Amino acid sequence: MNADHPFAQRASTLLSGLRDRGEFKVLQTIDSTMGPVVRLKQPDGSTKEALCFCSNNYLGLADHPEVIEAGLKGLRDYGAGTASVRFICGTFTPHHALEARIAAMLEQEAAYTFVSCWNATEAVFPTLCEAGDAIVSDALNHACIIDSIRLCSVIKKGVNRFVYPNNDLAALETKLAEAKGTLAPGGVIWVITDGVFSMEGSIADLPKMRALCDRFGALLAVDDSHGTGVMGRTGRGTHEHWGMRGADIDLFTGTLGKALGGAAGGYIAGPKLAVDTIVQRARPTLFSNALPVTVACSADKAIEVMLREPQRVQRLRDNVAYARKQIKAAGFDVLESPTAICPIIVHETAKAIAMSKRLLELGVYVIGFGFPVVPEGHARLRCQISAAHTEAHIDTLVSALKHL
Ligand SMILES: Cc1ncc(COP(=O)(O)O)c(C=O)c1O
Repeated sequence: MNADHPFAQRASTLLSGLRDRGEFKVLQTIDSTMGPVVRLKQPDGSTKEALCFCSNNYLGLADHPEVIEAGLKGLRDYGAGTASVRFICGTFTPHHALEARIAAMLEQEAAYTFVSCWNATEAVFPTLCEAGDAIVSDALNHACIIDSIRLCSVIKKGVNRFVYPNNDLAALETKLAEAKGTLAPGGVIWVITDGVFSMEGSIADLPKMRALCDRFGALLAVDDSHGTGVMGRTGRGTHEHWGMRGADIDLFTGTLGKALGGAAGGYIAGPKLAVDTIVQRARPTLFSNALPVTVACSADKAIEVMLREPQRVQRLRDNVAYARKQIKAAGFDVLESPTAICPIIVHETAKAIAMSKRLLELGVYVIGFGFPVVPEGHARLRCQISAAHTEAHIDTLVSALKHL
């Protein structure tokens, strides 16, 4: 492409602006497994160890020997890929095994997997909603939910959208009342929330949301990507934290790319009617390949290990409590919450990126998040805790934070 092509000019203006303002993201390269300690590639080709406090490897299962072995066995038994979408010839025995395990874990009738939770979520609204429905969404819901709703409004004209401020139940009630007024005969209200908000580390009040949904005859859908493996005694998720059953939620979306082995992949779990509709009609599954079978095998094993060893979830909870206490004691304002996400708000993107760079020099890998991942002026360092961390690792994190 010529440098004077309009696209080249536009892109180089954007990128040089990011560089000038110190907002340019530099991708680190990891040359090891994803564990509490990772080896990072240096510009001169050497590697340097760093404590990793920014992965979603909440239960330390990404390099668990049984999870790795299950993936290897899947590779040996089924080969490298499906070479097909699910409905043609891309459905293999391990897909059914994993989907049955996810459905059982979440006490839902059925589950269906995708190559990512992004894809799973993108399937939900454009497929399940019809004109005359209404979708009510938390303002801090993950980008995949926001984009799925936007896509739905393009594909299915006449679906009304309502957004309420984060965790504001009075506003949710108001929006539900408004939504009810817009419904066509037979129309459905869908309420969608993250279980754990990925940038805040706060949690949705699912019992109160359930009660509100029941009052308005709305369906409650929860994306528990950061709650699964983290929340509740056995790690089943945010509903378990609140003492609810999985069946109290109408529809779940979730990821296999975080606590459940961390490879990739996502799922929906819910009523068989909803899952069957997705299988028949959702474009991300009709037109895109199946979850790789090796990943289905390793994720299946990861869920088995999580449910067999609730002490991992307890260990994570202990680490989270210890980390929050120590980070606070070091003078940082970190939200009180049982989740594994501890954001330290620093406001400006360039500052967050500079702090992250300094932490890395001190051997601690924490990412600074700025716009457009979080709203302008809300940049932050997001520390994520894992069951694989030791107290000594957390002490090192806190001492590095004190050096900022
Ligand atoms: C709440 C939430 N939903 C969905 C996703 C997307 O998951 P995946 O990486 O499987 O597409 C993420 C990942 O960042 C997330 O935090």
